[in-house]
Amino acid sequence: MIGPVLVPMLVREGHQVSAMTRTPRKVDGLEAMGADPVLCDVLDAERTRDAVVAARPDVVIQHLTHLPQRMTPWNVKKGYANNDRVRGDGSANLVRAAEAAGAKRFVAQNVSFMYRPAGPWILDETAPLWIDAPEPFGASIRLHDRMEHNIVDNPNLEGLVLRFGFWYGPGTAFAHDGYYAGLVRRRMFPLVGDGTGRAQFVHVDDVAEATVAAMTKGGPGRYNITDDDPAPLYEWLPEYARALGAKPPRHVPMWMARMLTGSFVLNQATIMRGASNQKAKRELDWKPRYASWREGFKTALG
Ligand SMILES: NC(=O)c1ccc[n+]([C@@H]2O[C@H](COP(=O)([O-])OP(=O)(O)OC[C@H]3O[C@@H](n4cnc5c(N)ncnc54)[C@H](OP(=O)(O)O)[C@@H]3O)[C@@H](O)[C@H]2O)c1
Repeated sequence: MIGPVLVPMLVREGHQVSAMTRTPRKVDGLEAMGADPVLCDVLDAERTRDAVVAARPDVVIQHLTHLPQRMTPWNVKKGYANNDRVRGDGSANLVRAAEAAGAKRFVAQNVSFMYRPAGPWILDETAPLWIDAPEPFGASIRLHDRMEHNIVDNPNLEGLVLRFGFWYGPGTAFAHDGYYAGLVRRRMFPLVGDGTGRAQFVHVDDVAEATVAAMTKGGPGRYNITDDDPAPLYEWLPEYARALGAKPPRHVPMWMARMLTGSFVLNQATIMRGASNQKAKRELDWKPRYASWREGFKTALG
């Protein structure tokens, strides 16, 4: 869903955009946005190389995701496995294709909520990733770590990895019609324990603007792309419920949350760290239009 925000923005800025999709019914929409649609599955290495070489890009942008719209404790394993495949094999195919095409720069999507939950509550890009997190998350984080190295340390192109906070805005799981909104309305998204785990948010318009900035600014490396206001669950969840017009969230003790959802949700709710966006502001000359989710939830939730 970032495509419908990013592609028109790139076209408005005068870029010639080749937009990859696996889905024939999306072709007309991409054309209407002003892009050249390319039907391709990134897991097909040969086809990906041919498609990227034919497009002759200066910059390749990897915004690949393969997550279910509704991530539940029951489909989380499969959801992560699919996502890991496009971020592992898919991203590697795309990097090789970008090299073959002589692209100068490669900009890739990752997330800012993979840091080891230790030390200060707000971490920057130098903090270690939680590579030994409980499974299946540890394996996924190790794979994303390898993906990042393959991009950032690549001698053949300038590789930038954008580590995004939780996306909100139209088309996301936090939008009024999104999955989390449904859970909160049904009071099935509780405050767990003391709710001190930090989350950071970023509006999809800011996701697109940061991606555009990373096409020309900054150098190879990792950048947290989040708003200015990482906040504990006990602050943002009641505000989110209010923005939806829902009842306040229930409280659930840690032992019950562990039993119902497993350790990942529990960790997110209690020990997850926030991420600082100072490096992106400084080096990409980017700042979020929605500086805080407190305002963004009220005015631009989607
Ligand atoms: N940081 C975050 O919070 C974050 C980051 C990403 C996503 N999300 C959330 O996850 C959910 C789904 O994300 P989304 O809506 O961006 O997903 P999406 O609309 O499915 O977009 C993912 C893109 O990756 C492409 N893709 C996936 N597998 C591919 C493959 N094998 N070959 C080529 N292209 C492939 C898709 O192509 P097709 O056009 O063929 O579908 C699509 O263009 C949303 O709720 C979103 O908010 C959150």
